[in-house]
Amino acid sequence: MKPMNIKIEQRKRVAIITLDRPKALNALNTALMQEMVSVMQKLDKDPEVGCFVITGSEKAFAAGADIKEMKDKSYLDMFHEDYFAGWEAFTSIRTPKIAAVSGYALGGGCELAMMCDIIYASTTAKFGQPEIKLGVIPGIGGTQRLTKMVGKTKAMDLILTGRLMNAEEAERSGLVSRVIPSNKLIEESLQAAELIASYSKTTVMIAKEAVDRATELSLREGVLYERRVFHALFATEHQKEGMQAFVEKRTPDFSKS
Ligand code: CAA
Repeated sequence: MKPMNIKIEQRKRVAIITLDRPKALNALNTALMQEMVSVMQKLDKDPEVGCFVITGSEKAFAAGADIKEMKDKSYLDMFHEDYFAGWEAFTSIRTPKIAAVSGYALGGGCELAMMCDIIYASTTAKFGQPEIKLGVIPGIGGTQRLTKMVGKTKAMDLILTGRLMNAEEAERSGLVSRVIPSNKLIEESLQAAELIASYSKTTVMIAKEAVDRATELSLREGVLYERRVFHALFATEHQKEGMQAFVEKRTPDFSKS
């Protein structure tokens, strides 16, 4: 079935997913989540897709989980639907995801950006976890991921006050890797995505997995894991091709798996 809440476009080896609920500032409802996950799971397996760019509109990346969808639910509704658990499949996508954020990235919107691997922000971006104002707390990993990304005191400041943080502060805090003028956000994000997608998809997936482990393993375990997968790459054609091309002073061809 054609997705109703997102747009999908492919440019070279990059799949661009645009959240498309403009009237609700791209609030994340269940239908949007299901569409995104289902489309991305298929593209994740496609060797012709080497990177995702996830974006929204000029005004809003996403203004949060859909408050109107949630507001009348009971505890038992939330518990039995395991509300938000569907987003775990999004985090399991192995192809890298770049969040290109303009405007509001609030609540679930900020959490969606943090579930991506890289966040690029336009100068207009505003990040926040304002759930406290609604009598709730972040529910798609915000208390955990934000704390790991910006540290305890900044996470507490944002989550307990509900205040918004601009792009410059977000970059200073380590949430965002680049701040880009808004008219260049998509172009620059695509350039980075195309570069990532030009490398060996296998190697990129393994590199991503190793970095992801860093937030969960001890340094010793993480370094051991890295060394083991580094060794494993020597079983791939792409290691042979990458290193042979260097020696022959030519561009490697990673198109053959
Ligand atoms: N859910 C549902 N609808 C939303 C929404 C949301 N999170 N955010 C905005 N909308 C809707 C508004 O209700 C409004 O719809 P109507 O025209 O039908 O009234 C429309 O989008 C436009 O919004 P505003 O008129 O409010 O636009 P604004 O420019 O005046 O304000 C804003 C923009 C500051 C982002 C404001 O919309 C806002 O505060 N939104 C809610 C932000 C929020 O609290 N997010 C957290 C949600 S809870 C959550 O995400 C839990 C979690 O951890 C997963």
